[in-house]
Amino acid sequence: MMMKEMLYEGKAKKVYATDNDAQYIVQYKDDATAFNGLKKGTISGKGVINNQMSNLMMRLLEEYGIPTHYVEELSERETVVKKVNIIPLEVIIRNIAAGSFSKRYGVEEGTKFDSPTIEFSYKDDDLGDPLINDYHALAMKLATAEDIALIKDMAFKINDVMKNFFKDIGITLVDFKLEFGVTTDGVIVLADEISPDTCRFWDSETGEKMDKDRFRRDLGNVEDAYQEVIRRVSENRS
Ligand code: TMP
Repeated sequence: MMMKEMLYEGKAKKVYATDNDAQYIVQYKDDATAFNGLKKGTISGKGVINNQMSNLMMRLLEEYGIPTHYVEELSERETVVKKVNIIPLEVIIRNIAAGSFSKRYGVEEGTKFDSPTIEFSYKDDDLGDPLINDYHALAMKLATAEDIALIKDMAFKINDVMKNFFKDIGITLVDFKLEFGVTTDGVIVLADEISPDTCRFWDSETGEKMDKDRFRRDLGNVEDAYQEVIRRVSENRS
């Protein structure tokens, strides 16, 4: 696999072209941002952990019939993925109130829901990724009604698989963000990453935060938390 020119640099990853027209290489960085890039920092070793963790999760989800962009882990920080056009919707599933949900609706963090919620944000940094509903997404032609229905089904199924997986390793899956893309064959697949950057993980015993909220909220021990998540995940899946 030949790595060619860099196509895109995001906040946490770089994307490279390859000698295969239908594949990219993603490279994970240690850079961390929050609040739409307002807060900047480094989480040492994060790129290695997120690469490994995301690939483990994608392989797990594939076993449950969820199509993903994952192709092959190349190195500690690099993975071959299917080339996709990202659908500009951040898909957020919540099992427990936290973060922007708690803030927006005045619901205490930690309040458990009887059933999971789903919401979309329009992926646009200049606008600050605003909350958007299905009708808005349709009006803006971000996706078709069929695509949105499929994405919702996949997102809830992913939640079921992940919730059970994390429960077994003593982690409560509070919420997470997904992105989907369309492959060169026109198939909608799970893309981007699944990592402590994009999920809220609480230790099931102590309630301690084991995700990027430690960075966002200056709670300290950020690296240790990421290490502990990947330790538990890899112990269960190797
Ligand atoms: P929120 O409560 O801030 O809306 O975040 C919900 C989930 O989405 C949480 O697990 C963190 C994740 N997330 C991202 O992956 N990227 C983002 O830019 C934001 C704001 C949240």
